[in-house]
Amino acid sequence: MYERDEFWEEGASLLLPPQSSTIAPEVDAVYWFITLASLVLMAFVVAAMGYFMVKYRRRSHADRPAIVHENKLLEASWVVIPTILTLIVFFWGFRAYVATSIAPADSYEINVKGQKWFWTFEYPNGTITQNEIVVPAGQPVRLLMTSQDVLHSFYVPEFRIKHDVLPNRYTYVWFEAPREGVYQVVCTEYCGTGHSDMGAKIRVVGRGEFYEFLRTGGGDDSGIPLAELGEQLYTRRNCNTCHSVDGSAGTGPTWQGNWGQARPGSTEGTVNEAYVRESILNPNSYLVSGFQPQMPAYQGLLSDRQVDGLISYIKLINGAATVADTTLAPADSTAAPDGQQTPGPAATPGQGPGDPSEPMGLDAQN
Ligand code: CUA
Repeated sequence: MYERDEFWEEGASLLLPPQSSTIAPEVDAVYWFITLASLVLMAFVVAAMGYFMVKYRRRSHADRPAIVHENKLLEASWVVIPTILTLIVFFWGFRAYVATSIAPADSYEINVKGQKWFWTFEYPNGTITQNEIVVPAGQPVRLLMTSQDVLHSFYVPEFRIKHDVLPNRYTYVWFEAPREGVYQVVCTEYCGTGHSDMGAKIRVVGRGEFYEFLRTGGGDDSGIPLAELGEQLYTRRNCNTCHSVDGSAGTGPTWQGNWGQARPGSTEGTVNEAYVRESILNPNSYLVSGFQPQMPAYQGLLSDRQVDGLISYIKLINGAATVADTTLAPADSTAAPDGQQTPGPAATPGQGPGDPSEPMGLDAQN
């Protein structure tokens, strides 16, 4: 999860976050014009009101107001001036609206799926990320968005873009970020318990780094021990939205104290490697009693090694981790002795830490 305080420290004005997209200056200009014009008009009206209150106050009980005749100049000015101001706001605002609405033809397109309570991003080459988009600087990017469940809204304050994300419909926003940096996405349509946690990051990087990201799928997971990988995935892939690791209640069952336990549910099962693996890939096959079938299936969204990482992490927080879960075997060693690993029915090829036989392609898809 990002730290909210990390953002907006640099270049933020009192009222608006920094301008970090090509359209932000135009949007802000309209905003400031409306705000300042309103302030000037208000100051004028309030000053006139104060002046008249003093000048025309009732001086005695016998005071009678003089008969007022029309003033054509005055009447014309309070019709003409506001009309001109409104037309300026309309045409200027319309121009900015069109600029934000129509993506340039050479935009790079990324598919976005909103669901309770995270964002999934899919790149043209099949790379899938959650709660993080990586895009090249100086390149228009078009986000084609839809929702898996309820209404969400995709909002990037620093880019001045915001659009509702609807089930069974596609909407889009586009942006071009000229500078490298990390920008915050928030869901701005109330969508349930986890609404306020439904954030994402947009990482704007140089071209070289972007191509590297596309090649590796946003992270080479092979160089770290399984349990550590699982701990990273716990937040990176949003398990933390619903599952606690300290026993506290959540939308989904906590991971604390579950290992080795028999669990009543739609299918009774004992929490072991096979149980966890199946629960990640097909969450409804072991639906625990008292919980709703809310979790999305992660089939195809995690590599085998990432699933194993999550299993190792659950073992670790339950004090059941083995050496194989928490260390990397030296790269040149032959496969780690099987005895070091808790034998489980879920054992899959490539489960050994840092298994050199793991095909490179796996990570590239995730
Ligand atoms: Cu999704 Cu609020």
